[in-house]
Amino acid sequence: MGSYESTKETIRSVADIVEVIGQFVQLRKAGQNYIGLCPFHTEKEPSFTVSPSKQMFHCFGCKKGGDIFAFWMEYHGTTFPETIKELAERYNVPLLEGASSAEEKKKAEFRKALFKVNEQACRFYQEVLLEETGGKPGRAYLERRSLSFSIINKFRLGYAPDSWDSLTSFLGKDPRKLKIASEAGLLVERKGGGYYDRFRNRVIFPILNLRGQVVGFGGRVLDAALPKYLNTPESPIFHKGALLYGLNHAFDAIRKAGRTVVVEGYMDVLALHDHEIVETVATLGTALTDAHVRKLKGYASEAVVVFDSDEAGKKAALKSLPLFLNEGLSGKAVVLPGNHDPDSFVNTEGASSLRDLIRKAGSLFDFHVDMSLSVMDGSIEAKSIAINEVLPVLRRLHDVSQQSLYVRRLSERIGVKEDVLWMELKNLGRDGAGGSDKLSLSERLAKPAVEKRFSRDIHFLNLLIHYPEAAQALRNLPWQVLLSDAQVIEIGELFFQNYDSGRLSSMEDLAPNLESEKAREQLREGLLLPSFYSDQTVDLAIQEFERKIRQIQLSRSIQKAREQGDLESMNRLLKEKAEGIGQSAGH
Ligand code: GTP
Ligand code: MN
Repeated sequence: MGSYESTKETIRSVADIVEVIGQFVQLRKAGQNYIGLCPFHTEKEPSFTVSPSKQMFHCFGCKKGGDIFAFWMEYHGTTFPETIKELAERYNVPLLEGASSAEEKKKAEFRKALFKVNEQACRFYQEVLLEETGGKPGRAYLERRSLSFSIINKFRLGYAPDSWDSLTSFLGKDPRKLKIASEAGLLVERKGGGYYDRFRNRVIFPILNLRGQVVGFGGRVLDAALPKYLNTPESPIFHKGALLYGLNHAFDAIRKAGRTVVVEGYMDVLALHDHEIVETVATLGTALTDAHVRKLKGYASEAVVVFDSDEAGKKAALKSLPLFLNEGLSGKAVVLPGNHDPDSFVNTEGASSLRDLIRKAGSLFDFHVDMSLSVMDGSIEAKSIAINEVLPVLRRLHDVSQQSLYVRRLSERIGVKEDVLWMELKNLGRDGAGGSDKLSLSERLAKPAVEKRFSRDIHFLNLLIHYPEAAQALRNLPWQVLLSDAQVIEIGELFFQNYDSGRLSSMEDLAPNLESEKAREQLREGLLLPSFYSDQTVDLAIQEFERKIRQIQLSRSIQKAREQGDLESMNRLLKEKAEGIGQSAGH
């Protein structure tokens, strides 16, 4: 990654990592750093740390970390050149092209071509929708669904005419372009060669990512034909598992409201946005995944899931409970009356009725208990079903106080004593990660007194990080003998190399030059720990390190002398060691 250096530097100087990450992850101050729930793995207690002074992030849980560019790439799934370009645009930094590897370039170009053809197709379908005669069926359909013109515009809805080759011929004859369009899923390759349109006589719903780029499409039939919806398949720019439809328009509203409304379908999102419930998003025809929930919890602390009233809707509600509990996002449920889905409800009952239901939404947990109990209407069997269904979910809670709260609630709901429930719960055992003496991250970061819990390797690293001038005393000693951790040795070696050539300004700058990811992890963690030493104790610490090195060297020499039967040397060395000075520490 030796490229784009000057653009990178300029971005670094104007973009603040806390601000950038803070848009996607809720951060709170802890000591010198900010912490939050990691967007890259499942957790309920924050391990994700952002350091404003070092302009880097690191997760103590999954070990992902790095600078502002690394975050952007990981979070948005972008390549390095795309990341540079997007951040440069965002911060008004001129983009000076850098050299990338051939492979990197190819990948970036392919993605760029996919975005481009999607954008072209999106415009094409939008224009067709507005055509006097050609767009009529699409317009009539959307009108029937009561969508306003402004929503149709805002979400860039379109219409694919009833023809096998309207998009194909619009795109022209360039075979490379047609190939890209088929990779994007817009065209389908014919067996005998050539292409045809995937979407025919369908209303088109372009799917946009958070940054407003068209990544894929959904298309709905105008009648009762099947399949009702057709989507473009996954591509290098389209991953359904983590995407939320409407998020690009809902993002700001979600952050403002502190809450997301999650629905099931495209039409539900459009109807709710049209009725000014703008914090609404939908999954793309899949169940809610942990990746969805992880994203959402970065923007707001509560999600209200509005489920269809059918059986599938209820099942989906039940399935999503553990996701919410495990990710530490408060989940609430609205179950619509009758045969409604959110779209039909808001169109017949009005926005204020739906808003009411959303405001009064109960917790997903209570909904879960209700559903379990309703199976056999309060009978003993129903109770034991409830216990069997709900307790395994509670068992997974890491937060004991939350667990007690829910045990009490369950006890009240089904009239079974709390101790009985606790006994059942204990019988189920607690699964997974035990980690007995876990200090919380904020405790670890705030407390310099934790130093005893760290190895000598970490002490050594800590000394170099906070008092790099200690290098002067240590550089000609075989300091490696102190260490047992290969990563710390790697860091140390690079540090001293740079130190000797006078190239080192600070330890942070080492990270990109370290060979192994493990070493970079180790360095990030080291950088985030507070100093174990003070100006008063640092000299003592250096002396202590020097003494330790000599002691170890002496022990090794003694060992050698013993093996060689050199009693005279052995005695001399033993005496030296006992004096604890070690005058003869050869290099
Ligand atoms: P309308 O009937 O237009 O109101 O659609 P809906 O959003 O109410 O659809 P429904 O509740 O049946 O389905 C919810 C979501 O599941 C849709 O928005 C689609 O994303 C997805 N879906 C529904 N039917 C199909 C299908 O036949 N194929 C695929 N791939 N996805 C579907
Ligand atoms: Mn519907």
